[in-house]
Amino acid sequence: MTSPELLERLREVVGEEGLVTEPAQLDGYLSDWRGAYRGTAAAVVRPASTEEVAAVVRICSGDGVAVVPQGGNTGLCGGAVPDASGRQVVLSLERMRRVRAVDPVNQTITVEAGVVLQAVQEAAAAQGCLFPLSLGSEGSCTIGGNLSTNAGGTAVLRYGTMRDLALGLEVVLPDGRIWHGLRGLRKDNTGYDLKHLFIGAEGTLGVVTAAVLKLFPAVRSRATAWVALPSVRAAVELFGIVRALCGDRLTGFELMSRQSVEFVLRHGAGARDLFGAPHPWYVLVELGDTLPEAGLGGLLESALAEAFEREVAGDAVVASGSAQVDALWALREGISEAQNFEGPSLKHDVTVPVSSIADFVERTDRALREAVPGIRIVVYGHIGDGNLHYNLSKPEDGDDDAFRRRADELGRIVYDSTSSFDGSISAEHGLGQSKRELVADYKDALELDLMRGIKQLLDPRGLMNPGKVLPG
Ligand code: FAD
Ligand code: MLT
Ligand code: ZN
Repeated sequence: MTSPELLERLREVVGEEGLVTEPAQLDGYLSDWRGAYRGTAAAVVRPASTEEVAAVVRICSGDGVAVVPQGGNTGLCGGAVPDASGRQVVLSLERMRRVRAVDPVNQTITVEAGVVLQAVQEAAAAQGCLFPLSLGSEGSCTIGGNLSTNAGGTAVLRYGTMRDLALGLEVVLPDGRIWHGLRGLRKDNTGYDLKHLFIGAEGTLGVVTAAVLKLFPAVRSRATAWVALPSVRAAVELFGIVRALCGDRLTGFELMSRQSVEFVLRHGAGARDLFGAPHPWYVLVELGDTLPEAGLGGLLESALAEAFEREVAGDAVVASGSAQVDALWALREGISEAQNFEGPSLKHDVTVPVSSIADFVERTDRALREAVPGIRIVVYGHIGDGNLHYNLSKPEDGDDDAFRRRADELGRIVYDSTSSFDGSISAEHGLGQSKRELVADYKDALELDLMRGIKQLLDPRGLMNPGKVLPG
């Protein structure tokens, strides 16, 4: 067990407010947003500065105690949840919420790791700028978590993932040293680009304490449409049409199966269907421009007219006014939460080349329906990035536990199919604890060896978020 003396030394660093040991207060830090993973911990430490983070990590390292970094705890693969030993310390960044600087000329913002994503978007908007990362969890997830998972979301098509949005990092290394890499440079060819080691590392190589992020010109006009489609193949064709016509103005292109939308209609407050009859697939398309009068509505209508002419689209609505735009996004963003009302949701966050998506869905759906007749396949996601959330729910009258027991077998079906199309078993959520063993079967052995070498170099004692990412 962790010694009372260790807790006393941690309290000396972070103060009374920074140390949580009461079981009732610990609870919220010990399981994830979905309640899919649960652990236990000796304490939660909440440092308020980079120096405090460094001191905490040094103390834990000296005593051989493992540290689990945690941001908003919205991760979907158990990366921020401690193990069951009760010996680990959760290091929450929630008291590090300062926007350190906004530089509109350099188009950068410097923030601490615990700043909530939405607060960064708002700080950028207050300067007439845009911070474009956009996720359903943006009201709770933090910049440290976004960097550590290399978060994607609904605007990757235009602006890239978190990796593309970061210019510099400040990181506390597993031995407590601080790497001061907070540079706001768009060009810096002085050797290996170390920040990329920590982005997407899910807290296994160090604790990110601050970052310099890119800003963009504010978007002043938007056009949003909801399009009904007969097939995934038609959705991919529509993507080609819109992209060819609208180029960089295309910011979002989100696919949803009818099953996904039905869950939101059933459980989402105020959600309503847009067309008289159900369609097998829907796409939410969004264009954006920095000009206030960019004529985006007309441009989108031209793209849709071409889609109708080529018999790609079945029906479409171009949103009129911000209330309707919000309602369309609520239909899309509500899927993840709505699925939780339908029993266990088995999540598979995969990517394949855009050109393979239609064949991939056809083949995977067929295999899943053969394995579990009546299975509800909740496919949706960022199809413009080749990224689908291939989530599964039990048959309508199925049993929760019986379905959960088949999780590994059903996961194999999805991942084997993904792999046969040269895809990845994690597009944006990471490996955490859920896919840590699985990755050994789908990733090149040399790549895994190099990853182990990097881990060994930075964290030879394996005390930084052990049991995550790397296969045991
Ligand atoms: P946490 O869950 O707290 O942690 C995630 C991982 O990062 C853990 O391994 C943790 O140890 C590590 N970590 C956290 N902070 C630090 C730090 N400062 N230093 C080092 N390591 C750290 N994700 C997407 O990519 N795209 C989406 O579209 C998307 N939509 C979502 C919608 C909903 C409704 C929900 C609930 C989640 C969604 N997610 C999505 C997943 C999740 O929100 C992201 O992974 C997010 O980036 C996690 O941020 P967080 O602060 O909650 O991190
Ligand atoms: C989303 O895009 O909504 C999430 O990344 C997917 C999920 O919650 O499975
Ligand atoms: Zn997603």
